[in-house]
Amino acid sequence: MSTNRVHNFCAGPCTLPVTVIEELASELPDFENSGMSLIEMSHRAGAYDKVHNETIELLRRLCKVPEDFSILLLQGGATLQFAMLPMNLLQPGGSAGYVVSGTWGKKALSDASLVGDAYEAWSGADQNFSAMPDPSQIEVRDDTTYLHVTSNETIGGIRLPSFFPTTARQVADMSSDYLTREIPWDQFDVVYGGAQKNLGPAGLTVVFIRNSVVEAIPKTLPAYLRYSDHAAANSLANTPPVFSIWATGKVLRWIEDNGGVEGMQQRAASRSALIYDAIDSSDGFYRSPVNKEHRSHTNLVFRLAAEDLESEFLTEAEKRNLMNLKGHRSVGGIRASIYNALPTESVEALLDFMADFAKNRG
Ligand SMILES: Cc1ncc(COP(=O)(O)O)c(C=O)c1O
Repeated sequence: MSTNRVHNFCAGPCTLPVTVIEELASELPDFENSGMSLIEMSHRAGAYDKVHNETIELLRRLCKVPEDFSILLLQGGATLQFAMLPMNLLQPGGSAGYVVSGTWGKKALSDASLVGDAYEAWSGADQNFSAMPDPSQIEVRDDTTYLHVTSNETIGGIRLPSFFPTTARQVADMSSDYLTREIPWDQFDVVYGGAQKNLGPAGLTVVFIRNSVVEAIPKTLPAYLRYSDHAAANSLANTPPVFSIWATGKVLRWIEDNGGVEGMQQRAASRSALIYDAIDSSDGFYRSPVNKEHRSHTNLVFRLAAEDLESEFLTEAEKRNLMNLKGHRSVGGIRASIYNALPTESVEALLDFMADFAKNRG
């Protein structure tokens, strides 16, 4: 199966470790001699229970999640969290500040504004979302219940280089960089993200939430929307996304065997540095549109100085099996997403191609 795999730079869903794909394929028809696959059995069965709890335990261990946080396995993507979060946390009299650092921060604020008093605490719009804020630029109101940050803007290709304390409790959308960086839990009440980038297939959303926040959730919300119901039921209040949870458990084990989050963090830093070096040393053939110190380690956005060459770049790249390098439709250009499971050979193949293309067309 592994022989004809391409170099897949997709922003999500994206490459998973080939060993995990192979393991899933071999275990799928007859899960642990049950005579059925895991995706055909009850989520109340003992066999599934083990898979479910192992995935939660791996998340706790790998991300060093303190005991006073619950780990919820939900559905609806990070997009549902844009609404669920203010519905659960934002009460009358309080407000929520949003750092609008790009497309995703903007969407999060837009949904929160429909729910309660949500305001823009900083915006990168006047810099075309090419930079993250300096902490001193973020304006947090006194009545703020939480400050929402997007630690890595997947489309714009920028990341917060480090986390910082603010006067408000923080909440982070870490869809495209959790499991590639350590999280200072003392600064956060909630961290969430879709699984389909760094830790598994689509269909699963992981929410880490401080228990004291869970306890304060109003009972007036519909059941699925209440974090407290999911926490009380260990994410088994309704049918969970069993396949995604199973596959994610396997990817998490792969992460553990490959150096854990610390290893992934170093790997993302060193591999992204190689590509940014290639961009910076290309005598202007390639250019990065984002602020140097905020460059993403997972979604590397760049342009060709001659933008009319970009479609040829993509076509030629595909001839070398370098797939999904097209930038997001809203911004254009090139984007290489190099999440945890992308093999280093794929990064090397991209570097070789970039050098050859610049030599031939430069
Ligand atoms: C940072 C970020 N937030 C939110 C989303 C939306 O996630 P989902 O598609 O899981 O709803 C994405 C999707 O790419 C993302 O990158």
